[in-house]
Amino acid sequence: MMRIAVPLVALLAAAAVSAVELTDSQRAAIEERIAPSGEVCLEGDSSCGGPAVAASSGPRSGQEVYDTACMACHATGAGGAPVLGDAAAWADRIAKGADALHNSGLNGVPGTGMMAKGGCMNCSDEEVLAAVDYMVENSQ
Ligand code: HEC
Repeated sequence: MMRIAVPLVALLAAAAVSAVELTDSQRAAIEERIAPSGEVCLEGDSSCGGPAVAASSGPRSGQEVYDTACMACHATGAGGAPVLGDAAAWADRIAKGADALHNSGLNGVPGTGMMAKGGCMNCSDEEVLAAVDYMVENSQ
């Protein structure tokens, strides 16, 4: 046992040293690259990630999803997107009913800048629906 333990310690030490040699921007780039796979694991793929990761955070709230995935267009009106809080822009859309808006959120609006899931491919269906509800609740 001891013969195995010593090389393992040496290996860990070597890994720690090489981690220290990363610059801040390299480290940030790596963290950015590995972040999406962590989020995908949260969507219920039991084959990836450990339970500790899945248990530490649940689905993002509608506001969190809006802030990260929808705001770019829905705060500015880019491409004709109805702006959050603009009741006039939302009235006709809200009149179509929640199901129609949920469908638009999940599948997009063909022929417009509104892609499926607003382009947020690491958003679960549940998270997209929460974001739609958040926008509706704050736009009437
Ligand atoms: C790249 C720009 C863009 C992003 C990002 C985006 N949207 Fe949109 N969205 C649009 C545009 C443009 C429209 C208007 C489409 C139309 O003409 O009906 C729209 C319309 C909508 C509508 C109304 C659809 C209807 O049936 O009236 C909902 C709901 C919506 N978006 C939800 C979302 C959600 C939720 C997100 C984030 C997860 C998101 N959007 C991200 C551009 C975007």
